[in-house]
Amino acid sequence: VKATGAHGLALAAAVLGALAGCAERRPAVFGDDGWGPSFRGGEPAPDADGPAPAPRAQALPPGARSRWAHADELPSLAQIGGRERSEHLDGAYERTVVVNDAAAGYAHLTAGTRFPPGALVVQRHHAGDEVVAYYVMERVEAPEDDPLGGWRFSVVDPALRAAATEMSLCARCHREAPFGSLFGPPPHP
Ligand code: HEC
Repeated sequence: VKATGAHGLALAAAVLGALAGCAERRPAVFGDDGWGPSFRGGEPAPDADGPAPAPRAQALPPGARSRWAHADELPSLAQIGGRERSEHLDGAYERTVVVNDAAAGYAHLTAGTRFPPGALVVQRHHAGDEVVAYYVMERVEAPEDDPLGGWRFSVVDPALRAAATEMSLCARCHREAPFGSLFGPPPHP
């Protein structure tokens, strides 16, 4: 189903509503994807004696967002692979992946692939013609035992502003990925 522009914009607003932790506008489709609000509607409030809440990405209010450090590079990144449904965000969006030169090896991943610091892997989440969110992985200088596997994670909004912080939950999934914290590109059509 091809979304109209207006529909895409409504979806983008829904994504940002979810990022902002706005309970009323939070769509039911957002699951435990690592960047939603800490507690969803209908859930009991955290109990001081209960288990600690899972770490989650915290959305930044729009006024607190600043331009993503790599925004100017985005047009020069190269797409690897095709377009398919993403598992992020409860499968609500399709994904494409673009990378910089340092991450060109993304097209030929093996279990031993390790990218140099500076490698940038950006997954676009599409609703029809609109990109509603970018999920970013950037390789940094890090010790072997880095808890994030040498990567730094971020969520970037359609206005190319860093939109969330506290990304440890992203790394929880990605540490299980087969290629050095990466799952790999969508297949070509
Ligand atoms: C529930 C597990 C899970 C969580 C949490 C998760 N991811 Fe992913 N990620 C995946 C899977 C599976 C893929 C493969 C493609 C897809 O389904 O989207 C992927 C793909 C990616 C890619 C494309 C590179 C690749 O091949 O791995 C990027 C970039 C990415 N995720 C960033 C993030 C960021 C940023 C976060 C946190 C905001 C995050 N992910 C949270 C499972 C997860």
